[in-house]
Amino acid sequence: MTSQTRALQFVKSYLKILEDLGRSDGALAPFVDALRRVDETPGDNLTGVLDHPLMPLLEGALAAAKGPQELIETIIDLAGEGGFHQVYEGEGINATQADYMVEKQIVGPKGRLSNQKLGSGIFFLAPNFEYPMHNHAGLEIYYVHSGVMHVQNGVDAKPRRVGPGDYSVTPSNVPHALYIGDAPVVILYAWTGDMESPIYWWIEEEDGSWTKIVA
Ligand SMILES: [Fe+2]
Repeated sequence: MTSQTRALQFVKSYLKILEDLGRSDGALAPFVDALRRVDETPGDNLTGVLDHPLMPLLEGALAAAKGPQELIETIIDLAGEGGFHQVYEGEGINATQADYMVEKQIVGPKGRLSNQKLGSGIFFLAPNFEYPMHNHAGLEIYYVHSGVMHVQNGVDAKPRRVGPGDYSVTPSNVPHALYIGDAPVVILYAWTGDMESPIYWWIEEEDGSWTKIVA
Protein backbone atom coordinates (compact mmCIF):
# COMPACT_ATOMS: atom_id res chain seq x y z
CA MET A 1 0.00 0.00 0.00
CA THR A 2 1.39 3.43 -0.89
CA SER A 3 1.63 6.29 1.55
CA GLN A 4 -1.10 8.14 -0.35
CA THR A 5 -3.42 5.13 -0.26
CA ARG A 6 -2.90 4.90 3.50
CA ALA A 7 -3.65 8.60 3.93
CA LEU A 8 -6.84 8.25 1.88
CA GLN A 9 -7.77 5.19 3.93
CA PHE A 10 -7.34 7.26 7.11
CA VAL A 11 -9.66 9.94 5.69
CA LYS A 12 -12.26 7.32 4.76
CA SER A 13 -12.18 5.59 8.17
CA TYR A 14 -12.14 8.82 10.16
CA LEU A 15 -14.95 10.28 8.05
CA LYS A 16 -17.07 7.17 8.65
CA ILE A 17 -16.60 7.50 12.42
CA LEU A 18 -17.45 11.20 12.44
CA GLU A 19 -20.45 10.65 10.14
CA ASP A 20 -21.80 8.01 12.54
CA LEU A 21 -21.17 10.16 15.64
CA GLY A 22 -22.49 13.22 13.78
CA ARG A 23 -25.97 11.72 13.42
CA SER A 24 -26.62 12.74 17.02
CA ASP A 25 -24.36 15.80 17.21
CA GLY A 26 -24.59 18.68 14.73
CA ALA A 27 -21.26 20.08 16.01
CA LEU A 28 -19.49 17.47 13.89
CA ALA A 29 -20.91 18.75 10.58
CA PRO A 30 -18.02 21.14 9.73
CA PHE A 31 -15.47 18.32 10.16
CA VAL A 32 -17.55 15.86 8.14
CA ASP A 33 -17.93 18.45 5.36
CA ALA A 34 -14.21 19.21 5.29
CA LEU A 35 -13.23 15.51 5.30
CA ARG A 36 -15.63 14.82 2.43
CA ARG A 37 -13.84 17.48 0.36
CA VAL A 38 -10.34 16.07 0.82
CA ASP A 39 -8.80 15.27 -2.55
CA GLU A 40 -5.59 13.62 -3.68
CA THR A 41 -3.49 16.80 -4.04
CA PRO A 42 -0.15 16.00 -2.43
CA GLY A 43 1.11 18.11 0.48
CA ASP A 44 4.69 18.61 1.66
CA ASN A 45 4.43 15.31 3.56
CA LEU A 46 7.00 15.61 6.33
CA THR A 47 8.95 12.39 6.75
CA GLY A 48 11.86 11.21 8.84
CA VAL A 49 12.23 9.69 12.28
CA LEU A 50 11.81 12.16 15.14
CA ASP A 51 14.36 11.76 17.91
CA HIS A 52 12.17 12.77 20.84
CA PRO A 53 11.67 11.44 24.41
CA LEU A 54 7.99 10.80 23.71
CA MET A 55 8.46 8.61 20.64
CA PRO A 56 9.46 5.36 22.44
CA LEU A 57 5.98 5.37 24.05
CA LEU A 58 4.13 5.54 20.76
CA GLU A 59 4.22 1.86 19.78
CA GLY A 60 2.61 0.76 23.06
CA ALA A 61 -0.01 3.49 22.84
CA LEU A 62 -0.94 2.46 19.29
CA ALA A 63 -1.13 -1.20 20.37
CA ALA A 64 -3.56 -0.18 23.14
CA ALA A 65 -5.86 1.66 20.70
CA LYS A 66 -9.54 0.76 20.53
CA GLY A 67 -11.84 1.07 17.52
CA PRO A 68 -12.32 -0.44 14.06
CA GLN A 69 -9.44 -2.84 13.27
CA GLU A 70 -8.88 -1.29 9.85
CA LEU A 71 -8.38 2.15 11.42
CA ILE A 72 -6.03 0.76 14.09
CA GLU A 73 -3.88 -0.88 11.42
CA THR A 74 -3.93 2.20 9.17
CA ILE A 75 -2.76 4.41 12.05
CA ILE A 76 0.07 1.98 12.93
CA ASP A 77 1.18 1.98 9.28
CA LEU A 78 0.97 5.78 8.97
CA ALA A 79 2.89 6.26 12.24
CA GLY A 80 5.52 3.85 10.89
CA GLU A 81 6.15 6.22 7.98
CA GLY A 82 7.57 8.80 10.42
CA GLY A 83 6.95 12.50 9.87
CA PHE A 84 6.17 13.40 13.49
CA HIS A 85 7.19 16.82 14.73
CA GLN A 86 6.89 18.71 17.98
CA VAL A 87 3.68 20.79 17.95
CA TYR A 88 5.16 23.83 19.69
CA GLU A 89 8.75 24.94 20.01
CA GLY A 90 8.05 27.19 23.01
CA GLU A 91 5.97 30.04 21.57
CA GLY A 92 3.87 31.23 24.53
CA ILE A 93 4.17 27.85 26.19
CA ASN A 94 7.17 26.89 28.25
CA ALA A 95 9.74 24.60 26.68
CA THR A 96 9.02 21.75 29.11
CA GLN A 97 5.34 21.78 28.19
CA ALA A 98 6.22 21.95 24.51
CA ASP A 99 8.19 18.70 24.94
CA TYR A 100 5.03 16.79 25.86
CA MET A 101 3.22 16.94 22.51
CA VAL A 102 4.09 15.67 19.06
CA GLU A 103 1.96 15.25 15.97
CA LYS A 104 1.94 13.81 12.50
CA GLN A 105 -0.21 15.66 10.03
CA ILE A 106 -1.90 13.50 7.41
CA VAL A 107 -4.17 16.10 5.80
CA GLY A 108 -2.98 19.71 5.55
CA PRO A 109 0.06 21.65 4.37
CA LYS A 110 2.53 19.29 6.14
CA GLY A 111 0.55 16.14 5.38
CA ARG A 112 0.50 13.59 2.59
CA LEU A 113 -2.76 15.12 1.33
CA SER A 114 -2.66 18.89 0.93
CA ASN A 115 -5.63 20.92 2.14
CA GLN A 116 -6.28 24.58 2.86
CA LYS A 117 -9.52 24.05 4.83
CA LEU A 118 -8.62 21.14 7.08
CA GLY A 119 -5.74 19.92 9.19
CA SER A 120 -6.00 16.34 10.40
CA GLY A 121 -3.74 13.64 11.73
CA ILE A 122 -2.28 11.95 14.80
CA PHE A 123 -1.69 13.95 17.99
CA PHE A 124 0.36 12.22 20.71
CA LEU A 125 0.52 13.50 24.29
CA ALA A 126 2.62 12.39 27.26
CA PRO A 127 1.14 10.74 30.36
CA ASN A 128 0.12 13.03 33.23
CA PHE A 129 0.51 16.11 31.06
CA GLU A 130 -1.69 19.17 31.22
CA TYR A 131 -2.09 20.93 27.88
CA PRO A 132 -2.61 24.45 29.20
CA MET A 133 -5.67 26.60 28.67
CA HIS A 134 -5.71 28.26 25.25
CA ASN A 135 -8.13 29.43 22.59
CA HIS A 136 -8.20 29.93 18.85
CA ALA A 137 -10.75 30.81 16.19
CA GLY A 138 -10.43 27.44 14.43
CA LEU A 139 -12.82 24.61 15.30
CA GLU A 140 -11.18 21.53 16.76
CA ILE A 141 -12.24 17.93 17.29
CA TYR A 142 -10.25 15.49 19.40
CA TYR A 143 -11.27 11.87 18.85
CA VAL A 144 -9.49 9.61 21.34
CA HIS A 145 -7.83 6.58 19.72
CA SER A 146 -5.86 5.37 22.77
CA GLY A 147 -5.68 6.40 26.44
CA VAL A 148 -7.92 8.57 28.59
CA MET A 149 -7.95 12.34 29.07
CA HIS A 150 -10.18 14.99 30.57
CA VAL A 151 -11.15 17.96 28.45
CA GLN A 152 -12.16 21.32 29.86
CA ASN A 153 -14.04 23.62 27.47
CA GLY A 154 -14.36 27.02 29.24
CA VAL A 155 -12.31 28.43 32.13
CA ASP A 156 -15.04 27.66 34.68
CA ALA A 157 -16.19 24.36 33.16
CA LYS A 158 -15.75 20.99 34.83
CA PRO A 159 -13.33 18.77 32.87
CA ARG A 160 -15.08 15.85 31.13
CA ARG A 161 -13.57 12.37 30.75
CA VAL A 162 -12.93 11.36 27.15
CA GLY A 163 -11.76 7.79 26.49
CA PRO A 164 -11.27 5.66 23.36
CA GLY A 165 -14.10 6.09 20.86
CA ASP A 166 -15.27 9.30 22.50
CA TYR A 167 -14.49 12.83 21.35
CA SER A 168 -14.58 16.47 22.28
CA VAL A 169 -15.41 19.39 19.99
CA THR A 170 -14.10 22.81 20.95
CA PRO A 171 -16.13 25.63 19.39
CA SER A 172 -14.46 28.72 17.96
CA ASN A 173 -12.64 30.85 20.57
CA VAL A 174 -13.68 28.81 23.61
CA PRO A 175 -10.66 28.47 25.95
CA HIS A 176 -9.84 24.82 26.59
CA ALA A 177 -7.33 22.58 28.36
CA LEU A 178 -6.53 18.85 28.28
CA TYR A 179 -5.49 16.68 31.22
CA ILE A 180 -3.83 13.43 30.22
CA GLY A 181 -4.21 10.31 32.40
CA ASP A 182 -1.55 7.80 33.50
CA ALA A 183 -1.17 6.42 29.97
CA PRO A 184 -0.13 8.43 26.92
CA VAL A 185 -2.98 9.56 24.69
CA VAL A 186 -3.28 9.22 20.93
CA ILE A 187 -5.83 11.59 19.45
CA LEU A 188 -7.08 11.69 15.88
CA TYR A 189 -7.60 15.40 15.46
CA ALA A 190 -9.23 17.63 12.90
CA TRP A 191 -9.03 21.36 12.73
CA THR A 192 -11.10 23.54 10.40
CA GLY A 193 -12.77 26.94 10.01
CA ASP A 194 -10.51 29.96 10.65
CA MET A 195 -7.10 28.30 10.63
CA GLU A 196 -5.09 31.53 10.25
CA SER A 197 -5.89 33.39 13.49
CA PRO A 198 -3.37 33.15 16.35
CA ILE A 199 -3.46 30.95 19.43
CA TYR A 200 -3.88 32.69 22.80
CA TRP A 201 -2.57 31.11 25.98
CA TRP A 202 -4.44 31.73 29.25
CA ILE A 203 -2.35 32.14 32.39
CA GLU A 204 -4.15 31.89 35.73
CA GLU A 205 -2.99 34.58 38.18
CA GLU A 206 -2.74 34.13 41.94
CA ASP A 207 -5.99 36.07 42.46
CA GLY A 208 -7.82 33.62 40.15
CA SER A 209 -8.07 36.03 37.23
CA TRP A 210 -6.78 35.07 33.78
CA THR A 211 -4.25 36.82 31.57
CA LYS A 212 -4.37 36.03 27.86
CA ILE A 213 -1.20 36.17 25.79
CA VAL A 214 -0.76 35.67 22.09
CA ALA A 215 1.63 32.93 20.97
FE1 LIG B 1 -6.85 23.80 20.88
